[in-house]
Amino acid sequence: MTYEKLYDMLEHDHEEVKQMFQDALENEDTSKFQEIKKELEIHMKAEESYYYPKAKKADKELVEHGIEEHEEAKGLIKELDKLHGNSKEFMPKLKELKESVEHHVEEEEGKLFPKTQKTLDDKEEKQIATKIEEEKSKMM
Ligand SMILES: [Fe+2]
Ligand SMILES: [Fe+2]
Repeated sequence: MTYEKLYDMLEHDHEEVKQMFQDALENEDTSKFQEIKKELEIHMKAEESYYYPKAKKADKELVEHGIEEHEEAKGLIKELDKLHGNSKEFMPKLKELKESVEHHVEEEEGKLFPKTQKTLDDKEEKQIATKIEEEKSKMM
């Protein structure tokens, strides 16, 4: 049995940030970046603290690859922090972040989640989901 709620939560975050990116890029709205940044930082921290350590049992390499992709996203966020919203480079850089995040999300949803759904038991998944909820309520 898989505790669906954990994956629902993570996929819900993925969907939310995808919408934010779409809004920002469609309307060339640079002010959305702060929201995107916060959402990504909370989500990545939650995965790294509670989900990835357990997911390593299912596929260590995939998790390490995931961490590298988080680092890539963090690097792009830092670059965006340094750019002013009115800079010509801002939107292309935001698009780069969007593409990087979407690629990562595809791998999580397509490869990692199906694997941990098989290896983690219901109780472990429930614990991870609870920890993530607690962490989020602290950071919001
Ligand atoms: Fe992730
Ligand atoms: Fe994720």
